[in-house]
Amino acid sequence: MVTLYKAKAKASLIGATLTLDIDSTDYEVNGLSRYKQKIVFVSGALQGEKVQALVLEDKAGFIKARTSKVLSPAPGRQRPFCPHFSQCGGCQLQYLDNDQQIRLKQQGIDQLIRHQTGLETLPWQPMIAAADTHYRRKARLGVWFDKKTRQLSVGFRAEGSKHISAISECSMLSPLLTPVLTRLPPAINALPDPAVVTHLELFCANQRPYVVVRHVKPLTAAQQQAFVQSWPEAYFLGDDGTEQLQHWQPDTPTPAYTLTEQDIRLQFQPGDFIQINEAVNQKMVSQALAWLEVNADDTILDLYAGMGNFSLPLAKYAKTVQGIEGVAKMVQQAATNATLNGLSNASFAQADLHLPWPDAPWRGQGYTKVVLDPARAGAKGAIEQIAALKAAQILYVSCNAATFARDARVLLSQGYQLQKLSAIDMFPHTSHLELMALFSASSKSASVKSAPAK
Ligand SMILES: C[S@@+](CC[C@H](N)C(=O)[O-])C[C@H]1O[C@@H](n2cnc3c(N)ncnc32)[C@H](O)[C@@H]1O
Repeated sequence: MVTLYKAKAKASLIGATLTLDIDSTDYEVNGLSRYKQKIVFVSGALQGEKVQALVLEDKAGFIKARTSKVLSPAPGRQRPFCPHFSQCGGCQLQYLDNDQQIRLKQQGIDQLIRHQTGLETLPWQPMIAAADTHYRRKARLGVWFDKKTRQLSVGFRAEGSKHISAISECSMLSPLLTPVLTRLPPAINALPDPAVVTHLELFCANQRPYVVVRHVKPLTAAQQQAFVQSWPEAYFLGDDGTEQLQHWQPDTPTPAYTLTEQDIRLQFQPGDFIQINEAVNQKMVSQALAWLEVNADDTILDLYAGMGNFSLPLAKYAKTVQGIEGVAKMVQQAATNATLNGLSNASFAQADLHLPWPDAPWRGQGYTKVVLDPARAGAKGAIEQIAALKAAQILYVSCNAATFARDARVLLSQGYQLQKLSAIDMFPHTSHLELMALFSASSKSASVKSAPAK
């Protein structure tokens, strides 16, 4: 019998508290430090601080930790204004004022993109921003009923945990939605088994607040009626296999929002993706139209089109727009929205853009401009195919700087130049900063340095 050498497993540091000096911050404003040979990402810590941090993950090359005590605070650290800050995972950066948050996020993103692409300077334009509180027109709240203590918690997940932290107020939610936090918990508590409700999905549409009550066991008509008394625009979505959305009140209007600057009305269904920050979304769409200088000769391809948030405003000014979206029911919704807005030059098709699409019927139409607005995973698998379309301009809207930097590198290596870049403050007080980038085809390839080590 052969005896194999087995390296002794190293004890995990998860749960340990480390004392760390913070050297800098990354693009999500995590403090960066070192522990033995590993890099440590420390949420809640700032450059120059000494902190105690609780280890949440201990991997081969890095550690993730959360600040538990600031031993020496950096100048600029402030008291978070939300009473739930220390438990709620909804916003991460309230210990800085909003200007500082944006400065650090943008500084980290600038470094990340330059490092990934080899570009020496980036063509930053003014940032898109709006109010930094009460901006969320959509949110998903967790519901947790502790059967032992009979305690009900409705709120966001605490950072790095499955625990739902109960909140009674939220300065990020639209004022139309905040009353949910006090009016719906009693309705849930009144159920014979409050644990059947697992989530509440909230959204504003038609200047009204809607609530989707997600439940894992059927609710009787009387139980639903009790909810509707607390919240007239309540829908019920059973997780019992049928996934049937029951629309309680037949006269409740189909959810919709208006892009007032383009006079476009977009209907959607509960559960569909919509941009969270309505004011920022309007500015983002208007900037996309302005940067692309859309005109009546343009044939535009809008990828990751959702239910037409960019496609339909583009179609108002372009010759044609072809929208591509992965979720079939959103493709149908986009087509319905085109009809409702009287736009016969916009058409939509369903495709998984991350698979090869050489034979897709919509592929070879000689597009002048391409818009893409992927989810956080970016356009891996699609970006080379997009570059191969050889459109004169590509407008990339990104919600993840890391995947954007990776994809931008591909576009640059395929001969595109980065003309404009702006930060989009879609989620103030969180670690996220979105981006809009305009690439133009250039005759010669941009010089991109060899791939940097990650
Ligand atoms: C960030 S949302 C943008 C939607 C739309 N542009 C808007 O502004 O509302 C990303 C969209 O990409 C779609 N999507 C995600 N992965 C996809 C894939 N592999 N292929 C096609 N669509 C995908 C999602 O369903 C979602 O609608």
